[in-house]
Amino acid sequence: MRTRIVVFSLAAAALAGCGADDGGEDDVAGPTWYRDVAPLLAEHCMGCHRGGGVAPFSMETYDVAAAVAPMMLEAVEAGVMPPWDAASSDECAPRHAWKDDARLTAAETQLLRDWIAAGTPAGKAADVPAPPDLALAGVTHSVTPSVPYVTTGDRDEFICYLLDPGISRLSWMTGLEVVPGNERVVHHVVVMGYMPPPVLNAAAGGTPVGQPFPCNGGVVTMPDTFLMGVWTPGSQPFETPADIGLPVPAGALVLVQMHYHPGGATTNDPDASTVNLRLQTTRPIHTYTIGAAGNAAAAPQLQPGPDDRDVPEFRIPAGATDHVETMRFPLSGLADGRFRLFAAYPHMHYLGVELSVQVEHPRPDGGVDTECLVNVPRWNFDWQRTYQYDAPIADLPSIGNGDTIVVRCSYDNTLANPFVRRALEELGLQEPVEVLLGEESLDEMCLGMFGVLVEPAP
Ligand code: HEC
Repeated sequence: MRTRIVVFSLAAAALAGCGADDGGEDDVAGPTWYRDVAPLLAEHCMGCHRGGGVAPFSMETYDVAAAVAPMMLEAVEAGVMPPWDAASSDECAPRHAWKDDARLTAAETQLLRDWIAAGTPAGKAADVPAPPDLALAGVTHSVTPSVPYVTTGDRDEFICYLLDPGISRLSWMTGLEVVPGNERVVHHVVVMGYMPPPVLNAAAGGTPVGQPFPCNGGVVTMPDTFLMGVWTPGSQPFETPADIGLPVPAGALVLVQMHYHPGGATTNDPDASTVNLRLQTTRPIHTYTIGAAGNAAAAPQLQPGPDDRDVPEFRIPAGATDHVETMRFPLSGLADGRFRLFAAYPHMHYLGVELSVQVEHPRPDGGVDTECLVNVPRWNFDWQRTYQYDAPIADLPSIGNGDTIVVRCSYDNTLANPFVRRALEELGLQEPVEVLLGEESLDEMCLGMFGVLVEPAP
């Protein structure tokens, strides 16, 4: 992966010399770099493709952009760039568009195509607009471990930190951002709120605030905790829509679970990742919690699948392609009313190919209306993010008693899957291995997480 990026940047630099045509004409009929293309790419691409950004090359200068223009068009046409994996398919198409959808429209893609067809004219030189700032605005609380963690570099490690953001009164979170200290080893970060029980508080001398401690597995189900957010490669800062916030009690600590993954990084490579929070002390109109459906290990939720032996099992044999796991979660025991979902976060690991979450609403006539909540037709482990429905609250998808959530994932456990090659390489393995449900990177998951409004709608 890294090799490819380095090779690519060199190629871009080498080509840059020959594509330049800074002629400065201002009367070009078709699109020009300075007038049309640079503003477009600034908005959609340069947040990452800029000096110091996460992408392997910057498109801020005409020379580089012109040199790689055909490749940019190819990446856009293939749906690879900008990274945005939630899409509609014949089986699953959400009712609403997504907020801040980064993808280019057909007209914008055509503009890029026309510019290339015309020989990538520079046009009259002008300032390239500043790319959008991807950092979370209005951060009120920020926590970083005081003791960095040095990974062993030879195996997956789960390390937790309890951090104290100093929340002195009941607050509501409207934004969360994780800034990894060392992207080469941070594989994922789960951020939980933790309310220390009073008895633990009294003995707080024993709470290792700021110090790393091992915490293999299961943090999401720890008592006295609530999920605040998850960072995975490709995540952007999370911001709730107006009037929606996650309640955070006074005195809450932040429990951060770091999953460190070798990824070829050496030892002596410390990490101290920062969690930034935006909290407000006025109650928003709506509060939310994070609900999850998926990761069923057995029947009755786990449905029979192609490679099962005696009973339904979450097992992806080595060499399996088109391996599907399907799970059904009937909802009961919720309060009366409908609970609106405003955000969706689909999650699998390296073997994942496709994921969909649908909800079946029973109809009074005995039939069922199936609604697609989120669909990822081409999973890319590197680009996981939270998607938010672009709809007024009253029209958001909703769930309630009697509904059934159906989560379906498909996997490719062969060397044809580039992520399988990468995972095996990182673990020093040659051939695919059997993969089961679990938390480590060569385990799999099939999970839809949702931001669910707590106050039921009529
Ligand atoms: C969220 C960050 C981000 C945004 C936004 C983004 N890119 Fe990228 N881009 C990357 C990263 C990182 C890579 C390196 C390859 C990878 O990780 O997939 C990349 C790689 C590429 C490549 C190399 C092809 C490849 O497959 O390696 C091209 C071309 C490209 N981007 C074009 C674009 C264009 C055009 C846009 C806007 C329409 C865009 N990118 C928006 C992060 C981004």
